[in-house]
Formats: sequence, C-alpha cells, structure tokens
Amino acid sequence: MAFPYRNEADSLRAKPSLLKLEEAPRLDKSSRPAAVNVPNDLAAHWMPFTANRAFKKAPRLLAGAKDMHYITVDGRKIIDAAAGMWCCNAGHGRTQISAAIAKQAEALDYAPPFQFGIPQAFELASRIAELAPAGLDHVFFCNSGSEAADTALKIALAYHQLQGQGTRSRLIGRERGYHGVGFGGTAVGGIVNNRKMFGTLQNRPSPRASRNTAHISPTNWSAWSTCTAPPPSPR
Ligand SMILES: Cc1ncc(COP(=O)(O)O)c(C=O)c1O
Repeated sequence: MAFPYRNEADSLRAKPSLLKLEEAPRLDKSSRPAAVNVPNDLAAHWMPFTANRAFKKAPRLLAGAKDMHYITVDGRKIIDAAAGMWCCNAGHGRTQISAAIAKQAEALDYAPPFQFGIPQAFELASRIAELAPAGLDHVFFCNSGSEAADTALKIALAYHQLQGQGTRSRLIGRERGYHGVGFGGTAVGGIVNNRKMFGTLQNRPSPRASRNTAHISPTNWSAWSTCTAPPPSPR
C-alpha cells in the first residue's frame, strides 16, 4: 500500500542540491574509493531522538571519520568532540581496531551465545574482572547501553527475589537521567517526554508493590518529597 503523503520526501524533492552524488575527501591516503551515494528519499528511516521532519529538511549526513574528525557528505570536517556517543575514544578509523574486527569476522563472524561460547569472550571477561574493583568479578556482556541498563535492573530484581526479599522491587532513577531505549531504562530514565506514552512501565511485579519506579532530583538523593511516585509502603 502506498503512503498517501510523504511529507519528508516531498520536502527533499524541493532541494535538488541534496540529490546529487557527493564525494567525501579522505584524510588518510588509502586507495579505497570514497564515493558517497546520498539517497534522494530520507522518509523511510525513522531516526531516534531526532526531530525527523526538521532533520530531513536540512540533513546532517556524515560520510566518513578519521581520528578526531567526522567528514560530511559535502566534504566538511567536523571535530567529534563527544567521541561518537562516548564510545570512539581511541579515535576514528584506527587501523589496529578495524584490522582486529576484520580478522575476527573472517575467522568466526557469529556464534550463538546461548549454550555456546567463544574463547575470546572468556578471556575478555577475565581481563575486565581483573581491572574491576574487588568483588566485581563476573562479567555479563551486552550489545548496547540500553541492553546493559535493562539487564542491570533485571539482575537487581532477580537478586532480591533470590534473597527472599521479592518485595524489594522499587527502582529509583534520577530526574533528567537517560538510560537508553529499553522498557526498563525508559522507566527509570528521568526524561519526561520519553516516558509520556509509556508511564513508568515497571508496574506491580508483586501484589504488594504499588508503583515501583520513582524519580528523585539529580542534586538531592534524600529528597523523597520530589519523587514522582509515593515512597515504598511499609513492609
Ligand atoms: C547512562 C546511559 N545509559 C544507557 C545509554 C544507552 O546506550 P545505547 O545507546 O548504547 O543503547 C546511554 C547512552 O547514551 C547512557 O548514557
């Protein structure tokens, strides 16, 4: 079924300069071609946490990255002051990193993580456990911060269940906090707009819990009066 009206695509059609193929200059001297095919229809891709219509009217499209810079499709260099989203701190386009990724993909591109393991995961877990403070000696790998946040909440709830304290189910977040896009992370996140369609999500895991996600001021941990949920009921 065709969409009756594609607002974002229409707005792009009015800007023919966006439709031509652009070539991004490369900062390194490798022989790999750098032609960048800019799509002429940006409508289908729903972008997260982005004002989609505004973005697609004036898209900021990136074509490459090297060291501390991004390179836009029209060839401008932009300093990446945030290291991606705090995850490219070693710099962009590091050949040691891309070579290691390529080597592993050639040797074993994917293995199921359920009931199978790969040696490198065990080795990395041991190295992280060695670096972590005493008592933090087990590692659970996740694919994203969102998955990590939801997993941490699940571990906390399961831990108290196993301790025989299943009513300890109240999760406390901070106002304005961000913990990703999963249900749990959204619930404990303190960005009101992210929650407004979903409420606090983590509702009533036990019959005694009323509403078990609360938010407190980022500057005042003891300020129960500012919670968006009532304090825990006495046990
Ligand atoms: C504290 C925190 N939790 C969770 C996330 C979500 O991470 P991801 O985008 O990898 O899902 C972020 C990302 O900025 C974060 O800063």
